Amino acid sequence: MGTETREVIELFIDERSVRVAPGASVAAAVMNAGKACRASVTGERRAALCGMGVCFECRVEIDGVLHERSCMIEVSEGMRVRTVDAG
Ligand code: FES
Repeated sequence: MGTETREVIELFIDERSVRVAPGASVAAAVMNAGKACRASVTGERRAALCGMGVCFECRVEIDGVLHERSCMIEVSEGMRVRTVDAG
């Protein structure tokens, strides 16, 4: 009886199924999907910048929680991410 190791994680970004490697950050998954994270107050599309939790440019909604820093959160199976591109 071994421990099951997943080779891919399936999550949903703006309702689209995405498969990424375990251990990836949500920010990486969002960028890989070609999405922006959020919009600035002037409407510019923003994406991860520092990658270490300082700039807050990577904020997205994760499982209904607003303003999560996607660079600091690891992907998990079935996670639902909403970006500025969700419409
Ligand atoms: S990229 Fe800077 S806080 Fe996430």
